[in-house]
Amino acid sequence: MTEDPRKRMADLAILIERHNHQYHVLDAPEISDAEYDALMRELLELEEQHPEWKLPNSPTERVGAPPLDSFQSVRHGLPMLSLDNAFDDDEMREFDTRVKRFLESPGSPAPETIEYIVEPKLDGVAVELIYRDGEFVTGSTRGDGVTGEDVTHNLKTIRTIPLKLHGETAVSLLEVRGEVHMKLDAFNQLNRERESAGEPVYANPRNFAAGSLRQLDSKETAKRPLTIACYGVGNIETSGHLPNTLMETLGWIETFGIPVIPMRHLCRGIDEVLDRYRYLESIRDELECEVDGAVAAVNDVRLQERLGVKSRSPRWAVAYKFKPRQATTVVESIDVQVGRTGTLTPVAHLRPVRVGGVEVSRATLHNQDEVDRKDVRRGDAVWIQRAGDVIPEVVKVDREKRKKGVRRFKMPSECPACLAPVERVEGEAAHRCTNGFSCPAQRKEAIRHFASKNALDIDGLGEKLVHQLVERGLVENVADLYQLDRETLAGLDRMAEKSASNLLLALEAAKETTLARFLFGLGIRHVGEHVASVLADAFGDLDKLMKSSEEELQKVHEVGGTVARSIVEFFSREDHRKVIQRLREEAGIRWTKSEPHTEIEPEGPLAGKTVVFTGSLAMPRDQAKRLAQARGARVASSVSPKTDLVVAGDKAGTKLKKAEDLGIEVIDEDMFLARNSITEGESA
Ligand code: IVH
Repeated sequence: MTEDPRKRMADLAILIERHNHQYHVLDAPEISDAEYDALMRELLELEEQHPEWKLPNSPTERVGAPPLDSFQSVRHGLPMLSLDNAFDDDEMREFDTRVKRFLESPGSPAPETIEYIVEPKLDGVAVELIYRDGEFVTGSTRGDGVTGEDVTHNLKTIRTIPLKLHGETAVSLLEVRGEVHMKLDAFNQLNRERESAGEPVYANPRNFAAGSLRQLDSKETAKRPLTIACYGVGNIETSGHLPNTLMETLGWIETFGIPVIPMRHLCRGIDEVLDRYRYLESIRDELECEVDGAVAAVNDVRLQERLGVKSRSPRWAVAYKFKPRQATTVVESIDVQVGRTGTLTPVAHLRPVRVGGVEVSRATLHNQDEVDRKDVRRGDAVWIQRAGDVIPEVVKVDREKRKKGVRRFKMPSECPACLAPVERVEGEAAHRCTNGFSCPAQRKEAIRHFASKNALDIDGLGEKLVHQLVERGLVENVADLYQLDRETLAGLDRMAEKSASNLLLALEAAKETTLARFLFGLGIRHVGEHVASVLADAFGDLDKLMKSSEEELQKVHEVGGTVARSIVEFFSREDHRKVIQRLREEAGIRWTKSEPHTEIEPEGPLAGKTVVFTGSLAMPRDQAKRLAQARGARVASSVSPKTDLVVAGDKAGTKLKKAEDLGIEVIDEDMFLARNSITEGESA
């Protein structure tokens, strides 16, 4: 039986959007990702065969449309107002009094208590969505309140925005207003990913959301995990009847599949509003997104109409702002840090100050544009702010306290680490050192990155040691780490025989790794931990990946043009290929598809042996374990007749006793190291 393709396309569109809503809004998926992808693929294929039947709001539009040259302007049906702010309880009580007084007239005495709806005030970007006959047709930013920018193509990529209203609605026109924002988890994750890929981090979720909405290329917006929550309506045309209260309005638009701000609460009178405000402030840190206050709005729509609007804000609502998690301090100096990929980041060194329970002594200034915008100078009194686990930043300078004659900050034209020229890439905010791995700062960061926990995880290769290794010319790149011998290491400052052999053991243990860790460790720009593991899964083989073209790379889900270009560029360099070859052939770095310790090396000196570590060892327990595993051992946590060897450190207790009772061989850590130590051949 063959179904009418046109009907199938319409059904698929509805089905996909329903699952989309289940997943993104209700957090209750009904089908697996694979099933969802299959539906999407089916629709894409049908649309390719029958482009004439493609629906204007097909879910396939979610991935973005061809780039625009500029934004059109859109006039809002009703002005998009802002809200008056209140900063303390007295101002809130004054608001309540004003509302009551305004409603007073000879015919109608003021109501004794007003019902208010209180909601969290989300710190995002205001937008308006317009639905005609149930279809999402236009979306715009607030702009100046009267006219905004048409960002429909970008809003369509936000999965929580319904492209069609749910159900059979009698509403021919619906304008809804909401806040586009980003959940803090997603934002922090994104910044961690950027940091680990050597890219500058975003200042805060709101700026990020605003920047994302102003992309001319909606494919870029589609990659960003934005979401929306709505709080109100504009014009509505319907043959049915309209809700009488704000509470009903929000419940009503929710039934159409529009996500609304969670935790709306009905308060009778201003005292309940103040209680609710205090409650919201107390759970502020646990909320999913940045909330900067509470909004109180008159619930009764008829009262709202009577109250009306002032020039820029309604008389029936107010925003009660939370106390900011800010503090004032002094900028002692502004330094420039050189990152792993050469990005220069200005950092303000602050007189230490506590903000929300955390001591802050440094704040990022992001880049030259940010410094210019805030005009931060050495010696300035500044307000700093900490939001969630977002890195502290300078909010504002107290200009009045500025000393005379202090110059503006200017990014150096030479790299502070190697004096090579600094360039600013067209269209990017970042300045970069042009010296690549010839710059010692980049070299050090690259080595530290290679050794970091989520890369090769080489214990003991700290900042000071890397500094010495690079400054003394002992290590130029990560492959040189494997040429180091015990004597050289032991001769360094703050190093001794013991720490030298520990480092060699750590290097040894780290040879057994995964492709994802290795790729991440290479420090390719735009390849953070997540992308590295996606690539490892997709290619499974380094040689194949190294030979891939940009087109081939882009076939991998989550790999875009920028990432693909960066990878191809990285592997096209002879010096990079040489380092990789040395790491694999000379040092013997290897990986299997699964985690390394599940793979047993049958010829190792401990092949087939069950080993137990007990007591406190000089080297980290994890490392001892990995080393033993790399030599073929199975590491157990308790002693039994099946145990072959017990390695006992200081203060070993019952396990040691049991081993002795059972007549199992017991050795100390030094003996263990000596027996399994690195031979001359291996370390060369
Ligand atoms: S106004 C309870 N509610 O803040 C309904 N605005 O500073 C009151 N905003 O332009 C409707 N969260 O963009 C309202 N829960 C919220 C809000 C909210 C964020 C934004 C909105 C407004 C701006 C005013």
